[in-house]
Amino acid sequence: MKVYINKIKDYAGQEVTLEGWVANKRTGKGIAFIVLRDGTGFLQCVVSQTAVPSADFENAERLTLESSLAITGKVVKDEKQEGGFEMQVTGLKVYSIAEEYPIAKKEHGVEFLMDQRHLWLRSRRQWAIMRVRNRLIHSIHRFFQDRGFMHMDAPIFTENASEGTSTLFETDFYGQPAYLSQSGQLYGEAMAMAQGLIYTFGPTFRAEKSKTRRHLSEFWMLEPEMAFYDNEKNMDLIEELLRYLIRDAIENCKAELEMTERDISKLEKADGKFPRMTYDEAVKIIKGEKEVNGKISVRVLEEDLKELQRQLAAAGEEVKEREAKVNSGSLKKGEVNFNLNAIGKLKASIKDMEERDENIPQWLESAKNFKYGNDFGGSDETVLTRLFDTPIMVYNWPREIKAFYMKRDESGKFAKGVDVLAPEGFGEIVGGGERETNKDYLIEQINTHKLPMKAFEWYLDLRRYGSVPHAGFGLGLERFVAYTCGLHHVRETIPFPRMYGRLSP
Ligand code: 4AD
Ligand code: MG
Repeated sequence: MKVYINKIKDYAGQEVTLEGWVANKRTGKGIAFIVLRDGTGFLQCVVSQTAVPSADFENAERLTLESSLAITGKVVKDEKQEGGFEMQVTGLKVYSIAEEYPIAKKEHGVEFLMDQRHLWLRSRRQWAIMRVRNRLIHSIHRFFQDRGFMHMDAPIFTENASEGTSTLFETDFYGQPAYLSQSGQLYGEAMAMAQGLIYTFGPTFRAEKSKTRRHLSEFWMLEPEMAFYDNEKNMDLIEELLRYLIRDAIENCKAELEMTERDISKLEKADGKFPRMTYDEAVKIIKGEKEVNGKISVRVLEEDLKELQRQLAAAGEEVKEREAKVNSGSLKKGEVNFNLNAIGKLKASIKDMEERDENIPQWLESAKNFKYGNDFGGSDETVLTRLFDTPIMVYNWPREIKAFYMKRDESGKFAKGVDVLAPEGFGEIVGGGERETNKDYLIEQINTHKLPMKAFEWYLDLRRYGSVPHAGFGLGLERFVAYTCGLHHVRETIPFPRMYGRLSP
């Protein structure tokens, strides 16, 4: 009977057939250990020469990494194995013997792996990330459908910019210029006036000519839009959604999060009340002028820096010690490999730490010199969020740095927008706010932002015919996956990333 690895525990003691690929193989005298992956998981399969026809054992010996096969055997409980089971093989059938696989066990540079993305997707960590992404997408739909929101598809070809003209991808639409959508929001607003509560969830495009760990040129954005919501209710919904998704991932993606080496206790702590603060308060925290629970952001970072330098020195020492052991020639082969492995890991973490060692002083400098009225850069976000375990919500932004459609507050100085910043340096994961309802003010804003009025006439109609208070937000899926899995860079969160300098594969 053909079964899948993720259901293997239902078949303990039975003989079943799996189909998959060789993720790893070790051989000994008369025995081969194959780690099979079938898309749903990984399972060790033990091929013993005495338990299979001799032709099958020869085939097992021929198997290379990523060869494909069908394998039959008895499922046995074994606590020591991943997933708690292994297979005692009684027969196997080869589909294809793979050529020498380009992704070996040794450490590869990330550019190399990105060039091999079509294959890299098969490796454990990438497999786990894609599973988490899938779970989050599914849970986002569940969350909104359960609450009576209607899903809508916004167009990709658009006439106008919604999030600033500097990041538009222009394309040719039957001889007329068109732009790839930066956001489905404006169309979402139209649909909210028809359906009340809606959400769009689709690809969005931003031409960002810089390489950062948070920017993609093509990313997926969830954008709910709610008629009769103000920014307060908007923030309540954001918090409810994010906590729901975090809890859901912890409960349902534990094994995957372990594969990405996520510190799950940090995610658990994130499921608490999200502090809300105005832009003005946030600026004071960034500049070290305001305490949070008796702590000052810049002081805490200065302490982080000292601790980091201590760890860096210790890691350097450990590398030296291990290298000396390896070079001494007195170790057994297994011990040499063990030490080389440890050295590889240490060196990678030293590289990380050196980067932080260089960055933190710059962050501190720029935090202390932060100019009121500016938008937050990645480093300001890191300094600000350092004092919190949960995401935080910053609202009431200077009007000038926010999009044209944002509603003014009563003073006229601030926009009723909100940014949600994730802890641990993951930065902005959500941006949203209340929408301006006043048609004349919108016209003024469209002019101030030098946007073509003609392309916004239909949008102004939404204010002409039954304008109501409404609000919404955008969650960047890739940034949220990066945060959930604890990934340094968003490039690993999407199957085939598109970003400055990468269009292939
Ligand atoms: O803050 P943004 O630009 O807001 C909007 O687009 C609004 N129209 C949303 C709304 O109110 N309906 O983008 C929203 C989120 C950001 O917080 C971030 O998570 C993500 O989209 N994002 C990006 N993710 C990856 N790469 C990029 N270049 C991104 N730009 C924005
Ligand atoms: Mg934003």
